[in-house]
Amino acid sequence: MGDPLWYKDAVIYELHVKTFCDSDGDGMGDFRGLNDKLDFLQELGITAVWLLPFYPSPMRDDGYDIADYFDVNPNYGTLQDFQAFLAAAHERGLRVITELVINHTSDQNPWFQKSRRAVATPKAFGTDGGHASAAATAVDGDHDYKDFYVWSDTPEKYKDARIIFKDFETSNWAWDPVAKAYYWHRFYSHQPDLNFDNPAVHEAVEKVCDFWLNMGVDGLRLDAIPYLYEREGTTCENLPGTHEFLRKLRAHVDAKFSNRMLLAEANQWPEDAVAYFGNGDESHMSFHFPLMPRMFMALQMEDRFPIIDILEQTPPIPDNCQWAMFLRNHDELTLEMVTDEERDYMYRVYATDPLARINLGIRRRLAPLLANSRRKIELLNIMLFSMPGTPIIYYGDEIGMGDNFYLGDRNGCRTPMQWSPDRNAGFSKANPQQLYLPVTIDPEYHYEAINVENQQKNPSSLLWWMRRVIAMRKNFKAFSRGSLEFLYPDNAKVLAFLRRYEKETIVVVVNLSRFAQSAEIDLSRFAGCVPMEVFSRNRFPVIRKSPYLLTLNPHAHYWFVLQPQTEARRASKKRVVPTINAPTDLNTLLADGQRAQIEREILPNYIRSCRWFGAKARNIRGIKIVEQVPISSENNAARFWFVEVSYADGTPEIYALPVETSAGDAARAIGRAAPHAVIARFAGPEEAILFDAVWDAAFRQKLFRLMLDRQRARGKGGELVGVASDACVQNIGAQLPASQVLGGEQSNSSMLFENKFFLKLYRKLEDGVNPDVEVTRFLTERGFPHVPSFRGAIEYRRGKAESTVVCLLQSAVASERDGWALTLDSVGRYYERVLGRKADLQNQTTPPGALLDARLRRG
Ligand code: NOJ
Repeated sequence: MGDPLWYKDAVIYELHVKTFCDSDGDGMGDFRGLNDKLDFLQELGITAVWLLPFYPSPMRDDGYDIADYFDVNPNYGTLQDFQAFLAAAHERGLRVITELVINHTSDQNPWFQKSRRAVATPKAFGTDGGHASAAATAVDGDHDYKDFYVWSDTPEKYKDARIIFKDFETSNWAWDPVAKAYYWHRFYSHQPDLNFDNPAVHEAVEKVCDFWLNMGVDGLRLDAIPYLYEREGTTCENLPGTHEFLRKLRAHVDAKFSNRMLLAEANQWPEDAVAYFGNGDESHMSFHFPLMPRMFMALQMEDRFPIIDILEQTPPIPDNCQWAMFLRNHDELTLEMVTDEERDYMYRVYATDPLARINLGIRRRLAPLLANSRRKIELLNIMLFSMPGTPIIYYGDEIGMGDNFYLGDRNGCRTPMQWSPDRNAGFSKANPQQLYLPVTIDPEYHYEAINVENQQKNPSSLLWWMRRVIAMRKNFKAFSRGSLEFLYPDNAKVLAFLRRYEKETIVVVVNLSRFAQSAEIDLSRFAGCVPMEVFSRNRFPVIRKSPYLLTLNPHAHYWFVLQPQTEARRASKKRVVPTINAPTDLNTLLADGQRAQIEREILPNYIRSCRWFGAKARNIRGIKIVEQVPISSENNAARFWFVEVSYADGTPEIYALPVETSAGDAARAIGRAAPHAVIARFAGPEEAILFDAVWDAAFRQKLFRLMLDRQRARGKGGELVGVASDACVQNIGAQLPASQVLGGEQSNSSMLFENKFFLKLYRKLEDGVNPDVEVTRFLTERGFPHVPSFRGAIEYRRGKAESTVVCLLQSAVASERDGWALTLDSVGRYYERVLGRKADLQNQTTPPGALLDARLRRG
């Protein structure tokens, strides 16, 4: 059945079918074309598509003037094409949200035609003795629609209602020469408002709703929802009747369908917008209109105040509800929900050209608004994806498309999607003059440069960045469902907040300034946690009680997930170091009494806490020390334990664990420097420990000596044999180089001898040829200079059995980081390159030189 709260975790992509892809070359996008682009949408990572109105319409308000609620505009295909699109989207797990435009219809809608005739007829009889024109003569059934619209004899009613399209309309009333009456319209005069005081309108609207939901549509955007009712002496917005109707509609939808969503378009101040959630019984979602311009303001003012201020004014919403967040959409960047000063400011900084202004807003796309600054585009998107709500991306903004405000109305932001540098931006094969709107040829945003094909090939493009951010956001429920808490670093140019959900805590930090900034953030309540930057997976310094200092480049941003310390450290912290009741003597330690304690209690816990133990997820059945080899003949010398770990299923493994004892100050020093190396404590008044000998410098020297002097060390069942290359033996003086243990995350232990030698102690021991050693040795012997050369090894030999390599000594090569990190990075970049060349590779049946290919040829 799916999650009924799916809309909370959604990432929505808004598009008009006519703008997206033209499959039949008529210059207009269509459903078949859209179908062809589902791969693109899926790769972008969005989870739902919001389709702008696609119904039959005279298109004088881009389809928000609906002439027939029950069909598809023939320019975009047929109802079957829509159904095929819906099925294909669902198959890919993408939800589909469509438009329920119920405040008004087109004046071409048969409902209006009938209504105006019905209104005209009695009037005509009354005034001119029955000589009504044919167009105005009511026919059968027209009278059922008489009160479908808001008719009046006078345009003087409801004077307190504002005019929304103030650049185009001077009144909310229009004279209908057919009806010979005025009708009410909140938008264009060719869009008469439906009359919600008429219960028949409710029924008609429910039928429209059912028609599309029955087909499988997942969500409905409720266009212009605050304006359904009119009452004298009010602004005719947000009236109680509207909310009552919305509750009724919601109950109707809930009773007939499951997992559907209603999204209110209520361009209102937060407290009025919140009312559209009701008590969780009106709409599921509602756009947060006031936040949007304030994100732009905060960026321009380089001050976090506008964002914090509006979100602090936003009341909490019911648990089953969610804000819809956006930066841009198909309309102008609306400035209705800002103060006059704020509007002046926005016009001054974002719409210097008066042509960019329309109604109470700015008709520009995201990239041109931000002067095409990649940093600013990323910054605003990061904010969008971090805000408490579901993000909505407007088509084309993911590649930074430009606009063309010379096209009139809001068409400048509705030009064809730019797919490639080909004719018509790859959108259509039509004659360029036939396109529904011209493609963008502004030199800065020309489709030959800004298009999907180019960006797909370039992993540094905005498109790739958007994909990564979307994918990352989806990893954390804290973003989609979590609480919001502002942090107030001393620097007001830095916006910082927490998003928290269950065990997840994300810290978002954003530098709104065009200059580098530093900020001290109070994270003291998370002292001990490690912030991991989510894109790099790099761990930042541990949080302490003191303010956390961050430096940020111009317009930089961070998403940190707080980790309660690394796993290993947590394990070693939690592990209570056990006590052994025995003398501090390795010779007798494995005597009967203690062996059982060590094997059954001490080692299983210890080994699980070790970074190098790779089988943490397996069920340990038993542990046995199967060999012990003292490293020298000295009394109580460190020794190698070979520890056999057997599991509930699968083959056992053998691990090398060099152990040693230490007492007094030396023991305390090890406990401080390497707490995870302490295996057990000996009972008694003096501090004495059993620990991993790797952490003792003297032991490391002995390992080195064993190789250099080609010594042997006898154990119970076999012996350790030191091997050294002649070059190593000849070049070492009497004094061995000083050593240190390397701290990297590894499954083996590495030691460095004065940047001259690198010694690797293998933890998991395997019989037979060790490719690491063999390859290094072979290449060194053949004089190959591009690998760290072989210097020595320690092998464990036992009768006729194959020998086991325990240590490898190589020349050290100075490096900035270890091979593991380097490999991870290279593999990551390799995959990016492959994805960047996806289109080319898909055309090749088999990549040349594929391993599989070679094997088949041989076989
Ligand atoms: C809101 C839509 O977003 C806008 O494009 C349209 O013009 C008005 N409603 C009127 O339908």
